[in-house]
Amino acid sequence: MTNEFVKVANHEASGFTKEEQGRWTESYEFVFVADPQPGLIHQYDGGDGSLWDEEVKNIQEAALAINKMQPKPKFLVIGGDILNAFPGTPYRSEQLRDLRVAFSQLNTSIPIFAVSGNHDLGQKPTLETMEMYRRDFGDEYYTFWYGGIFYIVINTQCIISPDGTENLYETQKAWLEEQLKIALSSSCKHVVLFMHIPLFVKNPEEEDTGYAIPMKHRFKLMEQFADAGIEKVFSGHYHRNAGGFWTRTNPDGSLSKVEVVASSSIGKQIGNQGDKAGIRIVKVSENEITHHYYAIRDIP
Ligand SMILES: [Fe+2]
Repeated sequence: MTNEFVKVANHEASGFTKEEQGRWTESYEFVFVADPQPGLIHQYDGGDGSLWDEEVKNIQEAALAINKMQPKPKFLVIGGDILNAFPGTPYRSEQLRDLRVAFSQLNTSIPIFAVSGNHDLGQKPTLETMEMYRRDFGDEYYTFWYGGIFYIVINTQCIISPDGTENLYETQKAWLEEQLKIALSSSCKHVVLFMHIPLFVKNPEEEDTGYAIPMKHRFKLMEQFADAGIEKVFSGHYHRNAGGFWTRTNPDGSLSKVEVVASSSIGKQIGNQGDKAGIRIVKVSENEITHHYYAIRDIP
């Protein structure tokens, strides 16, 4: 038996509902990988994106190292730009095939959750490209529970580029509000959110760069996340490690703090800050969530 992505329908991950996974038992770890994007390295080297040996090798090496981790991580999340070829363009299905094979080497006890990225949905998603994504991966915004922690996955492309998908932006927005109410009213230990495009890359006040959620949405989302008690938001898209904290003093004097984590790619590194292709290991304990990025050959 080989590993496959978790099935998602009706905006819930099958096997990971509150009934099945809503109860806290013990601390655990999970793995976050961003932007596998097979073909991007070839494109940066001047090619047409038709070769992806290096990305596949990275995933295979990481999968083998993750399988040896002690304790074994409970699940793995791919934070978007799972593929490089946009929907309906050459090499898409071949990339998907090879990527599935590479991730299938992960031990079957480690479920794989998908987050949609701009390359997966299209820069300007349409009903057609959304349908293509959903055929391959299922719903692109959904929730899952694991060991008493509530996880929310959202589609950032319909926030950045809402035209062309009818009212998907509004539908997700209403759904997200519902999930944030659930987050607040449930007795979960933590709430964690995954979104491909980070809220910001260096500081919450930064101007719009194309690498982060535009300001017109950013502050509203951070307020909403803080209201719901979300502590960590994991993203990719930036192809280098970045992020920071957004804090707010509440009327009662308490502090709300949301950490935005932009995690580097398991494939192509962009910029020259010296990150290496790798994975992020997230430790979840009763009182806190901590995380650390490891280059593939340094995976503990
Ligand atoms: Fe991206």
